[in-house]
Amino acid sequence: MADFVGAVDQGTTSTRFMIFDHGGNEVGRHQLEHQQILPQAGWVEHNPLEIWERTQTVIQTAMNERGLTASDLAALGITNQRETTVVWNRRTGRPYYNAIVWQDTRTDRIASALERDGKGDVIRRKAGLPPATYFSGGKIQWILENVDGVREAAERGEALFGNTDTWLLWNLTGGTEGGVHVTDPTNASRTMLMNLETLDWDDELLSFFDIPRAMLPQIRPSSDPRSYGSTVNGPFNGPVPLTGDLGDQQAATVGQVCFAPGEAKNTYGTGNFMLLNTGTEIVRSEAGLLTTVCYQFGDDAPVYALEGSIAVTGSAVQWLRDQLKIINSAGQSEILARQVADNGGVYFVPAFSGLFAPYWRSDARGAIVGLSRFNTDAHIARATLESICYQSRDVAEAMEQDSGVHLEVLKVDGGVTVNDLCMQMQADILGVPVSRPVVAETTALGAAYAAGLAVGFWKNTDELRENWNESHRWQPTWSPEQRETGYARWKKAVQRTLDWVD
Ligand code: G3P
Repeated sequence: MADFVGAVDQGTTSTRFMIFDHGGNEVGRHQLEHQQILPQAGWVEHNPLEIWERTQTVIQTAMNERGLTASDLAALGITNQRETTVVWNRRTGRPYYNAIVWQDTRTDRIASALERDGKGDVIRRKAGLPPATYFSGGKIQWILENVDGVREAAERGEALFGNTDTWLLWNLTGGTEGGVHVTDPTNASRTMLMNLETLDWDDELLSFFDIPRAMLPQIRPSSDPRSYGSTVNGPFNGPVPLTGDLGDQQAATVGQVCFAPGEAKNTYGTGNFMLLNTGTEIVRSEAGLLTTVCYQFGDDAPVYALEGSIAVTGSAVQWLRDQLKIINSAGQSEILARQVADNGGVYFVPAFSGLFAPYWRSDARGAIVGLSRFNTDAHIARATLESICYQSRDVAEAMEQDSGVHLEVLKVDGGVTVNDLCMQMQADILGVPVSRPVVAETTALGAAYAAGLAVGFWKNTDELRENWNESHRWQPTWSPEQRETGYARWKKAVQRTLDWVD
């Protein structure tokens, strides 16, 4: 058996390729950003061809740097930004339109019409999701309605839909020369089109969006011993079996070895995503969370999760850097925020794409409140980091309400977890310890685990648990009064952002 497993992590801001050994240790990686295309307020697009090109480059670079060839990899896993929608032509391999990114709010009217027409409850019951701009269904509908020729091509089965997992799987397995058109239940569960019980596309849900079934990928297990296909020439220059596919947040849950019901993780990326494993039970949310598929390994029963998705966390720090220009790098947010002892009364609710969980208000827009002349850019930086933590507290409260599970410790991962101040704030605001593992790249690791389990590189999930080690733990230091006063202020600030868009 080959010594390593590879994983492509196709994220919102960048694509990386990582190589892991049997101990789950990183052996190699390369990463490249891609362009964020912002044609008008609320619209966010990516160029799928650029993403495919970057994917090939990161694979080749990481493999070459380590002097590895296809035969050194036992399997390949893919993980991806979820919901982002690509529609392309099967014969030419050309996308009909840019990828419409999960943060994009152009489908606002589609989402509110679903609710108005009484379809919202059917979507909640069957797909586990509230109608929202976030998910793929409305984005596919928008492309079918607004791009010439796509509907006819979709009905003929010539126009294919995929999230970026499917797009890359199709390209890696040969593209126009016979690429496979597949996805997994974790990705499919973010479209508003899949029935959570059958794990298949649902005709009633498809009819709500008028989406032809012929354009949808086949749904296969997230870890599939039968393999979706093998890489053909391309960046690996040889065959590697593709056996793992997971949406990035579910992949991080696997990478954090949250395999038992009641185990949860919080990933701090562009947005934040807290997932709680609920086992083989489908738990319906009353408190504004999503019910989603956590993973499906081979022929085992699918495992479900409750998810609290927050649209803007790390991207609020990017906003300080790119738009306000009060910092030069994300890392500087910590240095600036440390110049003051507290937030000086300032609260920042970065509702740039409306508010996701647990509010689901697309009419919300961002606000900085509590300003006085005394405040400086350091208070804004501090309020930004706090907003990441307060939004996570909103989600943790909803999770406790829905599941009755009180978190004893919060497992964290993702880019922002290198920010020591922010992680300390998280422990303070939540009132529970926060724990970060040695391998912080849990998303890529989870995809590698899914792929490796399928080919016997790892025997079972117990073996994966042994690979998890803590690198750092932050303990809460705030008094209960301080915590609750701060949280009450935050809730007041959130109220200020609602009803902003007519
Ligand atoms: O649902 C969106 C999520 O999958 C995006 O994750 O890490 O690319 O921001 P990330």
